[in-house]
Amino acid sequence: MMTKKILITGGAGFIGSHVVRRFVKSYPDYQIVNLDKLTYAGNLLNLTDIESAPNYEFVKGDIVDAAFIAELFRTAQFDAVIHLAAESHVDRSISNPMEFVMTNVIGTVNLLNAAKEQWKGDYAQKRFYHVSTDEVYGALGETGMFTETTAYDPHSPYSASKASSDHFVRAYHDTYGLDVVISNCSNNYGSHHFPEKLIPLAINNIKNNKAVPVYGKGENVRDWLWVEDHARAIDVIFHQAKAGETYNIGGHNEWKNIDLIKLLCKIMDEKLGRSAGTSEQLITYVTDRAGHDLRYAIDSSKLQEKLNWVPSLQFEEGLAKTVDWYLENEQWLDDVTSSNYQSYYETQYAER
Ligand code: NAD
Ligand code: TYD
Repeated sequence: MMTKKILITGGAGFIGSHVVRRFVKSYPDYQIVNLDKLTYAGNLLNLTDIESAPNYEFVKGDIVDAAFIAELFRTAQFDAVIHLAAESHVDRSISNPMEFVMTNVIGTVNLLNAAKEQWKGDYAQKRFYHVSTDEVYGALGETGMFTETTAYDPHSPYSASKASSDHFVRAYHDTYGLDVVISNCSNNYGSHHFPEKLIPLAINNIKNNKAVPVYGKGENVRDWLWVEDHARAIDVIFHQAKAGETYNIGGHNEWKNIDLIKLLCKIMDEKLGRSAGTSEQLITYVTDRAGHDLRYAIDSSKLQEKLNWVPSLQFEEGLAKTVDWYLENEQWLDDVTSSNYQSYYETQYAER
């Protein structure tokens, strides 16, 4: 497929900014258009290094606005879409599910409709890549892993909205013949991660000597993948997957939350010159998340075997690199934790 003009949605967010950067730098012949509403989670500071690149353009807009999306597709003539725009935080979905229905479900269907109309008669030359999560599969017990054929069983409003969007994407393939690809990835970590999610929130709190909130007993397990490995997987899948295919992406890197937080405390004590054990004293057990999924683990053998992708970084190394990035980018952290962050934090954690 000779792709020329690619719409990347949600490119100002955490994973989206890594995907935009990778495509702008690796494919100078492609035109990359980043469409983002710039919600609290979207930040153009994430892309300052590539904002002047000749093959990059930013468009501010809302995927929930169907007329705007249809007009954008008519005028821009995209060859492909890589769709990452979403409301992405489980805790926010528990307080405000409708926002998740609007962006994750309606927004995705708006994009599908615009692609279906604009690409009519030429579907084989176009591609709609939908970026999704392993959370659609629900929760695992002590053993087992999610494969591409695991039945969907979402539990949070966030995962239910992502599951719904996945179903719509597949339905547009089966019903209209749109060329679609879906990937479901495990938890990402790395630079530019908004400090509402566990790892950047804990880094920020440890740095500021604030309590580190651990939900429940800290026994929930997540499978962590370095964000640049996710961006590389998206690149490989985008270029090589067959129409209608799904790929799971994961790090084979399961950690209990409490073990992860203790490792982070150790790394931060070293980096901040604190004596061993200092930061661990900040760990505070708080009320558990409602409907908290016990364990996620991804079987990514299809991606490894068919497309030769393997994660590049060991977790300890990746976590240390991530801590370095946050300590070197205080201005970024100050910017994203100003304005509404404090009131979000107080509401979210006061209730616990
Ligand atoms: P994020 O919250 O950091 O970024 C989301 C981006 O989407 C932001 O830039 C935001 O401004 C934009 N956006 C939100 N609503 C929009 C709207 N209505 N119109 C246009 N833009 C809008 O999210 P992320 O962590 O980078 O996740 C990106 C995608 O990857 C999501 O689809 C998410 O479900 C998926 N995913 C995330 C993870 C993870 O660990 N973070 C894991 C697997 C899959
Ligand atoms: P999170 O980063 O929100 O990702 P997700 O819920 O999508 O997996 O949370 C990761 C894990 O950390 C999850 O089990 C919930 C837990 N957690 C805490 O213990 N404390 C916190 O303050 C947050 C935000 C999450």
